[in-house]
Amino acid sequence: MKRETFQVVPEVHQAGDPSAQGIRVPFVRPALPPAERLAPVFSEIISSGRLTKGPYCERLELAVAKRLGVRHAVAVSSCTVGLMLVYRGLDLAAGSCRSRRSGGDGCAVASMDSLSRFGITRTAHRNEPLGEVVMPSFTFLAAAAAIVWNNLRPVFVDVDPLTTNVTAQAIRAAITPRTVAIAACHNFGNPCDLTALESVAAEHGLPLIIDAAHGFGASMHGRPVGAGATAQVFSMSPTKLLVAGEGGIVATNCDCLAHFIRMGREYGNDGSYDALFPGVNGRMPELSAATALASLDILDQVSDRRNQLADLYRRDLGELPGIGFVELLPGAHSSHKDFSITIDPTKFGITRDALRRVLASRGIETRAYYDPPCHRQTAYEHFHDRMRPLPATDMLAARSLALPIGGHVDEGIVRDVCDVIANAKEMV
Ligand SMILES: Cc1ncc(COP(=O)(O)O)c(C=O)c1O
Repeated sequence: MKRETFQVVPEVHQAGDPSAQGIRVPFVRPALPPAERLAPVFSEIISSGRLTKGPYCERLELAVAKRLGVRHAVAVSSCTVGLMLVYRGLDLAAGSCRSRRSGGDGCAVASMDSLSRFGITRTAHRNEPLGEVVMPSFTFLAAAAAIVWNNLRPVFVDVDPLTTNVTAQAIRAAITPRTVAIAACHNFGNPCDLTALESVAAEHGLPLIIDAAHGFGASMHGRPVGAGATAQVFSMSPTKLLVAGEGGIVATNCDCLAHFIRMGREYGNDGSYDALFPGVNGRMPELSAATALASLDILDQVSDRRNQLADLYRRDLGELPGIGFVELLPGAHSSHKDFSITIDPTKFGITRDALRRVLASRGIETRAYYDPPCHRQTAYEHFHDRMRPLPATDMLAARSLALPIGGHVDEGIVRDVCDVIANAKEMV
């Protein structure tokens, strides 16, 4: 395995932290540029006193837009805030970009049919949801939060059990006159079928919003994911391949949506100190932007490392009965933000949860993403239509297990984790 030029931050726990006890192989550690590389930049930012709205944020936005091949990459404080602002910016109740009055061209939603013909009008002040957003349930809970925060109703649909991503067929079957948008995700960094999703969105004149939280480091036919769809929203929290500390990027080709997000992250203020709509403080601090900018230089290396580890896991676990792997579409390259396997209890001999306990007893930390899935989360279960079964989602939620991956994992650790998995039945 190649030597890296990034640093993996060692485990740091408070004395007495119960979560620290007995962890030999942490699930994840952030991969960061070496501290010597960041120190002078941090020092410069601190001496300048310009901690926010500064040049590093602008440089990051330009560098990311170039890498992704999009007109706009707007830096925000998190992926969740980015998603919230995107749904708000699309002004789904009115069927047009709220910020169209700013006169930008390249508007992704200007051609959308007015939803008022469906009887959906601006009713943001009322308590009833405005319209429906079709989304996979098998995804991270922030995706549902961004929708419900905008007084929209999530309509949960199933995913492909092999790719774990939502399919165009599932989306198409759930579209009704009340649908105002389509949402998808590159689960675990595995690129979703953007071409098929874009054609459903175009057929119905609906915006397509991609949760690309796991997207940095992933590509399709050699091109980084991020272009296409109305907007793709990335996360740069410490578990991701590109780390800002906390942060997100909204990638879009829509000038007016980008303009709205820029105002939205600034309290809805366009600089005139007159709030045009109720925004948030969604800015990215300069220290975070500088961290992300430096991390961009090592992103390909970090992604290569994860892909090498994924290959090793596949090699070592491939012969075991009852273990399944996430499948990729032709031309897809996963970031492997997570390396998630499935455990078929009948063939493997024990359940996912029993295996998780065995691994934990050997100091190996894992995650059961996404269990519970969105349609069984307390905040969102009442939106779920029980007449719409989600068998693949329920199966994946019960069987998926994400294994440790990242710069802190090496070939020996993979072998160790795989040995424990191979012998787990006898260790229960
Ligand atoms: C799929 C997915 N979407 C959204 C988010 C939220 O990202 P953030 O923490 O930057 O808000 C995450 C976070 O891990 C995620 O995994």
